[in-house]
Amino acid sequence: MRMQIAAANWKMNCTLDEAKQLLKELSSPAIKIKSQHRVIIAVPFPYLILAKEFFTGVPGYFVAAQNCYDKEAGAYTGEVSAAMIASCGITHVIIGHSERRSYFSETNAMLAEKVKLALKNHLTPIFCCGESLKVREENLQNAFIGRQIEESLFHLEPGQFPRIIIAYEPIWAIGTGKTATSEQAQEMHSFIRRTITEKYGSSVAEDITILYGGSVKGSNAAELFEKPDVDGGLVGGASLKAAEFKKIIESLKK
Ligand code: PGA
Repeated sequence: MRMQIAAANWKMNCTLDEAKQLLKELSSPAIKIKSQHRVIIAVPFPYLILAKEFFTGVPGYFVAAQNCYDKEAGAYTGEVSAAMIASCGITHVIIGHSERRSYFSETNAMLAEKVKLALKNHLTPIFCCGESLKVREENLQNAFIGRQIEESLFHLEPGQFPRIIIAYEPIWAIGTGKTATSEQAQEMHSFIRRTITEKYGSSVAEDITILYGGSVKGSNAAELFEKPDVDGGLVGGASLKAAEFKKIIESLKK
């Protein structure tokens, strides 16, 4: 179902004490959200269960992992499976963040496997896509994003597709302070919805939540989120400060 979502991506930040402090500030008191709103906090693996405890009984708040492996189980030292994440009571997992694609060479085909395994284990994938500055300068962003979505998501059955959340995160806007304009975000989100319409039909496409990510802050969130196809944000840097992230939660479409 289409939701308005403020999602935090802590990336590889926070020691245990810092994580506890930030979780405490976010959860007590937590910003009260409307029924069509969700807040999702993606924390590093060691803090998943702890984070879940902080939000137990807080309506509309969920915890996510930032990644899972593309194999079910076995001799893959250091990796974490979708089944393990789900067994900890976690409900969401980020898949295909551009940092994983570039530093860990994750391909569209690998991400298709991760999406399959996440769904098989009843996790909601937050599937990230996004183009580099070079691709945007050459005006090839639509073809590029279309391919990422097609190769990683279009193996899904029509009944499975609505279980996905998509995050459009232009790489040139991540951690750079250079946000896409709300018009650029709207343009791409509407293109993504059209691409989904062609494959699965408009009722499926209209039902998909599409987040924008890339230098979202308290000061620009409302302008981005008010665009019709922008259903909230995936937030890195600004999610590490409780007051700033709370402002972003409050900027979700009413
Ligand atoms: P940023 O990161 O908000 O720090 O730009 C967003 C993301 O990578 O998810």
